[in-house]
Amino acid sequence: MEIERDTELDQALNGEPPRKRVDGDAKNRDSAVTAEKLGEDAAVEVSLRPKVFADFPGQDKVKQKLLVFTEAAKKRGEPLDHTLLCGPPGLGKTTLAHILANTLEAEFKSTSGPALHRKGDLAAILTSLRPGSVFFIDEIHRLSRDIEEYLYSAMEDFYIDIVTGEGLGARSMRFQLSPFTLVGATTRAGLLKAPFRDRFGIVERLSFYDRDALVSILTRSAELLGVNLTAEGGSHIARRSRGTPRVANRLLKRVRDYADVRGDGVVTGELAEYALNELEVDQLGLDHMDRRILSLIIDKFAGGPVGIDTLSAALSEEADTLEEVYEPFLLQEGLLQKTPRGRMVTELSRAHIKSVDTK
Ligand SMILES: Nc1ncnc2c1ncn2[C@@H]1O[C@H](COP(=O)(O)OP(=O)(O)O)[C@@H](O)[C@H]1O
Ligand SMILES: [Mg+2]
Repeated sequence: MEIERDTELDQALNGEPPRKRVDGDAKNRDSAVTAEKLGEDAAVEVSLRPKVFADFPGQDKVKQKLLVFTEAAKKRGEPLDHTLLCGPPGLGKTTLAHILANTLEAEFKSTSGPALHRKGDLAAILTSLRPGSVFFIDEIHRLSRDIEEYLYSAMEDFYIDIVTGEGLGARSMRFQLSPFTLVGATTRAGLLKAPFRDRFGIVERLSFYDRDALVSILTRSAELLGVNLTAEGGSHIARRSRGTPRVANRLLKRVRDYADVRGDGVVTGELAEYALNELEVDQLGLDHMDRRILSLIIDKFAGGPVGIDTLSAALSEEADTLEEVYEPFLLQEGLLQKTPRGRMVTELSRAHIKSVDTK
């Protein structure tokens, strides 16, 4: 159905100037292996971002399912079901959202939870969507409750109510929207309320990448960036990338700098090893902050258990960041355990911290 715009609607939508999109809120850390997006990543990420499933190594199960779902939607001429992509930063959620739109040959519009806090802004986007459009909301767990609830009818029945005027003169108008696909990305699926979560027909969780997938990603990135990367060099970087493509790509760039300055431009195994040591990325791919977390629990809290808020205060780091950025990898590598009474280190982390300390 065509949307008719009248002046009243325009005013309702545009009463206040639109807020600028706030791009992520990662702090500028001096760390080569944080999975958080740093300022320097923005431009290069766009150029390295695969546009089709075939250029997206890893996440095989997720990929296979999404391939079937997109093909089915295309065959039926219907929009893809609303899709929620979950997982730690840097694993490819934004990339997959783009690939979905591309595969569906659909228009792509995007915003993020923290940037979207007025109903008018949301209504303006929703009413502009075309049939089958992909509307991507990054950090969807950070939407305000109002906005989230406003999305419910849009997601379920493709309509929204827009209220204009105030007090006795207030009027509510119902707008039919084009059937679209909402793609949400979140690092904290657990924070989404059940009624919201249930409105996504497809929920996929991304996991950390294995060595082979990271090597494929690095090989492709090296080609695109014109970096001379040997198989051994690629494998060294992959091993220390925290299972995260964003980190792998960043390390590749930093290691290339060492190859250009300290070597002959070729990223060999030896050169990669040397550069990664200089960058203080250890054998397990842990960075300074990971090691600080583990050392702190060992030294100050007798190995734990210690509550997340206590840790957060002791490290001067937000609890959210600890949970979203650092913990998932430490947990998956068996370096940290979550118990009802708090976080505990493991034998493995004690041994690892001891070995780096004595170096
Ligand atoms: N499977 C993959 N293959 C190739 N590159 C990837 C893959 N996953 C992520 N990347 C790259 O890693 C970077 C971060 O990915 P992004 O989609 O922004 O992560 P997220 O949104 O989950 O934080 C991008 O440069 C992207 O191109
Ligand atoms: Mg993203």
